[in-house]
Amino acid sequence: TTVAVDDADYRLGGHDDFMHKEMAEQPDAIRRALLGRLDERFSTSRLDGLRLDARELRAIRRVKFLGCGSAYYAGQLGASLVEELSRLPADAEPASEFRYRNPVVEHDTLYVAVSQSGETADTLAAVQELKRKGGQVIGVVNGVGSAIARECGRGVFLHAGPEVSVASTKAVTNMSVCFALLATLLGRVRDLGVADGARMVSALSALPDHVAAVLAQDDEIAAVARKFKDARRMFFIGRVRCWPVAREGAQKLKEISYVHAEAYQASELKHGPLALIDPDMPSVVLVPDDELLTKNIATIEQIKARGGPVIAVTNADLPEGLADAVIRAPRITRELDPILLTVPLQMFAYHLARELGRDIDKPRNLAKSVTVE
Ligand code: AGP
Repeated sequence: TTVAVDDADYRLGGHDDFMHKEMAEQPDAIRRALLGRLDERFSTSRLDGLRLDARELRAIRRVKFLGCGSAYYAGQLGASLVEELSRLPADAEPASEFRYRNPVVEHDTLYVAVSQSGETADTLAAVQELKRKGGQVIGVVNGVGSAIARECGRGVFLHAGPEVSVASTKAVTNMSVCFALLATLLGRVRDLGVADGARMVSALSALPDHVAAVLAQDDEIAAVARKFKDARRMFFIGRVRCWPVAREGAQKLKEISYVHAEAYQASELKHGPLALIDPDMPSVVLVPDDELLTKNIATIEQIKARGGPVIAVTNADLPEGLADAVIRAPRITRELDPILLTVPLQMFAYHLARELGRDIDKPRNLAKSVTVE
């Protein structure tokens, strides 16, 4: 006898939806992104697909990341990694804006086009505009054979595997992992020493297991989401390395739960948004164990003093009772901690959207890849 298995059920492999499945796949997806790309002997990374030798890598004076939506936020994280590890100036811009503003294209800037699908119309147009002006552009793309991958002709594949859910999870994580590899490579041909290079190589190797440890807290994170399911609006607060993480966290919540979420840098709160804090405005505050720890703790105290509920997402030891809920992640190393802290925000958005009965994989008004303007 044969048992008829629905194709979608089969592909979901026991998960209720693709977003949950794709979040769960992250440790393996990261392992694939790292495969053959870590060079322990020289404490660096290898990205042969860039087709840039050491001399060409050293000639780069600036790095600019271009993408849309979550790929743009990931690019911001990439810029922060590049700046920190290689001391090259780096920034990110939405590809949709770049293509229309007659950008100054410099010959010693490395442009990085970022896309899961490889088919996003604005990102493709930005690449074409860059090439027309003689810019050096690489693709960091998941879709092998996609339009952006072909147009760039060189770059780094994400190897995240197929992503079905409109809300991107494993591809965004692998973007950050590939940027960490790129930043390490750019650093090691400059002033990043052997010890720091080795620290990055070992932290990257350890990342999949740390992500698995965060994923294992599914029930705890679901409980926090349940506690805040009646919130109609939320702040996501992070600073410096965790500012792109806050933006990505707000993006995930908006996309799949339709709860209004805004991201702010903690340092900007008192310049305006603090006026919105009240008992109906919970704040998700990112508190990495880094040099800004005491400042982030002070931010939480300021929010609490104005009656705002706080969910701390942290890998630091926080004073008892500081926040209304705490989601914990392990420590890796300060440059990679933001990648790890992104994962609980995906899970929080997922569980909150489920509490609200949303269509997780197909949120209203959105398409998986935006191939038209
Ligand atoms: C991510 O959750 C979003 N669905 C969206 O912002 C997406 O990242 C954006 O449309 C870019 O897509 P791409 O990576 O396929 O270019």
